Amino acid sequence: GYPKRVKVVEVGPRDGLQNEKNVVPTPVKINLINMLSETGLPVIEATSFVSPKWVPQMADHTEVMQGINKLPGISYPVLTPNLKGFQAAVAAGAKEVSIFGAASELFTKKNINCSIEESLERFDEVMKAAREASIPVRGYVSCVLGCPYEGKISAAKVAEVSKKMYSMGCYEISLGDTIGVGTPGSMKDMLTVVMKEVPVGALAVHCHDTYGQALANILVALQMGVSVVDASVAGLGGCPYAQGASGNVATEDLVYMLNGLGIHTGVDLQKLMDTGTFICNALNRRTNSKVSQASCRL
Ligand code: HMG
Ligand code: MG
Repeated sequence: GYPKRVKVVEVGPRDGLQNEKNVVPTPVKINLINMLSETGLPVIEATSFVSPKWVPQMADHTEVMQGINKLPGISYPVLTPNLKGFQAAVAAGAKEVSIFGAASELFTKKNINCSIEESLERFDEVMKAAREASIPVRGYVSCVLGCPYEGKISAAKVAEVSKKMYSMGCYEISLGDTIGVGTPGSMKDMLTVVMKEVPVGALAVHCHDTYGQALANILVALQMGVSVVDASVAGLGGCPYAQGASGNVATEDLVYMLNGLGIHTGVDLQKLMDTGTFICNALNRRTNSKVSQASCRL
């Protein structure tokens, strides 16, 4: 059976924009988040407190956090790779953060410049500070179905890293198919192993759609009991340290599928599509959402 309701985690303002070559003006980012806030989405990942030398697009994190209308009942988490990022995020008003690790040594090195073991030590510092500040922490595990540098990644490794981050106190583990190579088969096999270590109620899936498999992979995850799904409006996104990785599953397409399954999300599809149109116009690009393409009346 499927879950009755699904929590959609919108990652467009962060994952969607971090890979854009041209710096997106801060007011556009703020407007995007404010429009998303009106759609009924419960979680909107707003920005990253990472090094501006590594990801210049996210250098305006403080201005974004301070410029948006934070509506009651909506969470606006931000990425924090280390204690420095955590402290800056809290100073900017963040009430929730995410740490991000990976099941691949080489990806971890390329993405956050350390080994998996060192990353867990850094995360431990963030967890400690977050506990003292009563800030909930979400944990990402990247490369769960493949790595741009190592290729195949074992489900056992994904389960090991996921379990460590869950045991540290992350309330939710988001399993990232960073380069979108997974299929319903590999998703099922990976989840079967990970669910032995982390309760399914604490798992989310984060599917990039590079190979066109994202909705199929999400459907399998839903059938296995996962009820939290990450998505990006207009299907924007990619990781600067995973070359060739394209956008996340489009939030519009995810909501359309969930509506069709009778699964409650609380999201207004029309307002979401209008938000997609806004950001695509601002970026001067075509939407990656099939639903928006189909509904576009000429
Ligand atoms: P580093 O160079 O190893 O850091 O970077 P360091 O500790 O050696 O410090 C070097 C300099 O960076 C110092 O400044 C620090 O103060 C500064 P300097 O003394 O040279 O002037 N620094 C910082 N500045 C701002 N904010 C910070 C920070 N930390 C240190 N938080 C670091 C290590 C982790 C910072 C770097 O590698 C980094 O920023 N990486 C982020 C990469 C990133 O954002 N990737 C994309 C997000 S992950 C993703 O997209 C995947 C996901 O979507 C899931 C999926 O799809 O699988 C989540
Ligand atoms: Mg991602």
